[in-house]
Amino acid sequence: MTETPQIGTPVPARARGDAVAATASTGPDPVISAQQVVRRYRRPRRSLTRPGPVVEALRGIDLDIAYGQRLGIVGESGSGKSTLIRLLAGLDRPTSGSITFAGREITRLPDRSLKFLRRDLQMVFQDPMSSLDPRMTVSDIIREPLVALGHPNPRARVAELLDAVGLPAAAAHRYPHQFSGGQRQRISIARALSPHPKVLVADEPVSALDVSVRAQVLNLLMDLVDDFSLTLIFVSHDLSVVRHLCDTVVVMHDGEIVERGPTTAIYERPTHPYTRALLAAAPTLRQALAVHAANRDRKEPQQR
Ligand SMILES: Nc1ncnc2c1ncn2[C@@H]1O[C@H](COP(=O)(O)OP(=O)(O)O)[C@@H](O)[C@H]1O
Ligand SMILES: [Mg+2]
Repeated sequence: MTETPQIGTPVPARARGDAVAATASTGPDPVISAQQVVRRYRRPRRSLTRPGPVVEALRGIDLDIAYGQRLGIVGESGSGKSTLIRLLAGLDRPTSGSITFAGREITRLPDRSLKFLRRDLQMVFQDPMSSLDPRMTVSDIIREPLVALGHPNPRARVAELLDAVGLPAAAAHRYPHQFSGGQRQRISIARALSPHPKVLVADEPVSALDVSVRAQVLNLLMDLVDDFSLTLIFVSHDLSVVRHLCDTVVVMHDGEIVERGPTTAIYERPTHPYTRALLAAAPTLRQALAVHAANRDRKEPQQR
C-alpha cells in the first residue's frame, strides 16, 4: 500500500534565506560560520618505509549559515561534504581555520565544553539501520539525547515526537528492525528533534531509501523544518532533492566550494563548469519517480 509520492514544485527561495544567500560573509549573526577551514587526513601507510599519503578533504572553506536558512550542500562523492558537516557538528576538528556556532568558537573547545552543540545541532544520517541502536526500543532511542542532557521529563516528549513524524504511539515499544526503511528514518528524525535543536543536519537522508518513500520523508522533513523554525543543512549528491528543499545551495568539488547562491539562480544559471556538469548528469527525482510509477503500473495494474 504505497502512497503515490508527490513531489511539489520547487520551493520558492524565501526572503530570509535569500538575504544571505549569495555570499560567504554577509548577514548579521550567522548561526554557523566557517572561516578558512582546512581538513587533511593521512591515509593508512601501505609501505613500512613511507608514511601514508595525505588527503586534503577540505581546502579552505568559508561559509556563513543564517538562522532559518535551508542550505543544500551538493557535490559528487568524495568532494568533502561529510567532512565539512562533521566539523560543523564538532564531531571532528579542522587541521586549521575556525568555526563558530551561535557566536562561539567551537574548534578549540574540548568535547566536554560542547554540550550546547550536542543539543542545538542534531544530525540525521543516510542509513538509519546503522545509526539506530538495534537493542534499544524506539522510546529509548528518542529519549537518549534528552537523558544525556539531563532533561527533567524525557518520557513526555516521546509521544509528541512520534506523532510529529507520523508514527503511531505503539511504535514506542518496538525495535528498529520491526520498521521499514522509511519508518526508521522517521525514528531518526524524531530522535534528532527531541532536544529542540536549532540546526538540523541531514547527510544524504533519503539516498538509502526506496524511491517510492523518498518523497514522503522529504515532505515530512520540510514540514518539520517549518513547524520548528529550524535551520536546515541538507547534504546530497542528488540535485533535484536539494532543489525541492533548499533556498540556498553550495556546490563542493574536491574540497572546495566552487559555486554558491540562491537555489533558483544556481539551477537556472550555473556559472561554474563543474556545477553545469553536475546538473547535466543529474537525472531528476521527478524522472526517477516517473520510471518507478511506470514499473509499478506494469507489475500490478489491478492494485492501483
Ligand atoms: N577518516 C578519514 N581518513 C582518511 N580519509 C578520509 C577520511 N574521511 C574522509 N576522507 C577522505 O576525504 C575526502 C572527502 O570525503 P567525504 O567528506 O566523505 O566526501 P563526501 O561526503 O562528499 O562523499 C575523500 O577523499 C575521503 O576519502
Ligand atoms: Mg558523504
